[in-house]
Amino acid sequence: MTMPLYVQGGWFIGALLFIFGLKGMSSPASARQGIVTAGYGMLVAIAATFFIPGLQNLALMLAALLIGGAAAWISGKQVKMTDMPQMVAIYNGMGGGAAAAIAAIEFAKGDAHSVVTTVLAVVGALIGAVSFTGSCVAWAKLQGVLKKAWRLPAQNAVNVILAVVSVGLGVAMIGCAPAEPVLILGFFVIALLLGLVVTLPIGGADMPVVISLFNAFTGLAVGFEGYVLGNPALIIAGIVVGAAGTLLTQLMAKAMNRPLSNILFTPMVASGAGEAITGTMKEVNALDAAAMMRYAAKVIIVPGYGMAVAHAQHKVWEMTAILEEAGVEVKFAIHPVAGRMPGHMNVLLAEAGVPYDKIFDLDEINAEFGQADVALVIGANDVVNPSARTDKSSPIYGMPILDADKAQNVIVIKRGKGTGYSGVENALFYTDNCRMLYGDAQPMAGEIIQHLKTLG
Ligand code: TAP
Repeated sequence: MTMPLYVQGGWFIGALLFIFGLKGMSSPASARQGIVTAGYGMLVAIAATFFIPGLQNLALMLAALLIGGAAAWISGKQVKMTDMPQMVAIYNGMGGGAAAAIAAIEFAKGDAHSVVTTVLAVVGALIGAVSFTGSCVAWAKLQGVLKKAWRLPAQNAVNVILAVVSVGLGVAMIGCAPAEPVLILGFFVIALLLGLVVTLPIGGADMPVVISLFNAFTGLAVGFEGYVLGNPALIIAGIVVGAAGTLLTQLMAKAMNRPLSNILFTPMVASGAGEAITGTMKEVNALDAAAMMRYAAKVIIVPGYGMAVAHAQHKVWEMTAILEEAGVEVKFAIHPVAGRMPGHMNVLLAEAGVPYDKIFDLDEINAEFGQADVALVIGANDVVNPSARTDKSSPIYGMPILDADKAQNVIVIKRGKGTGYSGVENALFYTDNCRMLYGDAQPMAGEIIQHLKTLG
């Protein structure tokens, strides 16, 4: 059916707003506006859909909008910053599931489509279904509902068999369109199972990369189903999400120095037989830590996942302001995979009001650690582990790290002797120039602030 101009126009405006929204998200300064712009795009695209002539099931559509909108509004308001990755995972899964459901309805209707349309519907259904169950597993793992990494005896062989069977059934559906219901059912069952089986063995530390990959899948699936429905807003939104997700996945894999195939098919385990670490961990108290920074010329702060857990970003910024007032130069060093999601630390620091010109990426700041009097590591671990440079048996070997160990003095705030997400011991904590300040990052930053105030 050819759509009236006003519906096409609405979708076109919606698509433009998606693109402008994504452009806004490329910088922390405009990201909030970007997400709002994309939201308006979605609103315009949905509104235009209601003007399709001869539209049926209006009550059902409104009910779905109401239920989905309310669930998203409530969960969006309540979600904690540290729970954001699993929220992204579940929303992403819904997108993949919706794309697969669109395809399922089209197959069930049995309407005649061109071969190209049927091929795209099948491909979209396959990756949408995989993304749906895979994202549900990713959510369950990050939420702590699923604690175990389930690995089948011949895991990779099972993955390949399921992939081949689902592609085979998809080809059969294209060959004998309109397909029999039993064939359609078999195809979806295997595709959903594939998403489950591929994702279950992947460990929590790799989950953000997997979520990003499924995000790219969902985008592609939505784009393909948009073609099937003749909806340009879905095609453009899908392609934009697919391209952004693919780039982000590549970026994260590169920052961890692990090929995507390794993340997907090789579990990340600490062998326990790494390089021997010499030295001892030496403690420092909050007063001495405050004095070391108060009388320093340059301090570089390295935040990590623990700062997010402790919600310490506001205190950290308050501490920074006091140090700067006293004439200390303070900079923030951000590792690309610090925390648990891309841009995790940037978002938290921006929320606390830290100006962007004080925040530096790994490549920009690494050379400066050598001139820093103090590197203050707050709740970071893997991203400052020097054994990533030398220990070939380490699961983080080859990951570029922040050179905190090269500073004159290192102060590490963490609660105890726990390892980072990779599960490996950190050689930095045992070096001569490193001092451990044990405690939750927020009260510890508070104590340092109190001492800085008394030091004047
Ligand atoms: P981690 O290596 O996970 O270390 C965090 C440290 O914070 C832990 O050692 C923990 O020690 C401490 N901690 C936890 N809660 C704390 C609290 N309330 N107060 C103070 N300290 C606390 O963090 P990281 O250095 O940011 O590295 C991120 C890891 O996640 C890397 O391995 C990275 O590859 C992985 N990863 C990240 C991403 C993205 S996109 N960010 C994607 C995939 C994988 P205690 O228990 O002793 O306190």
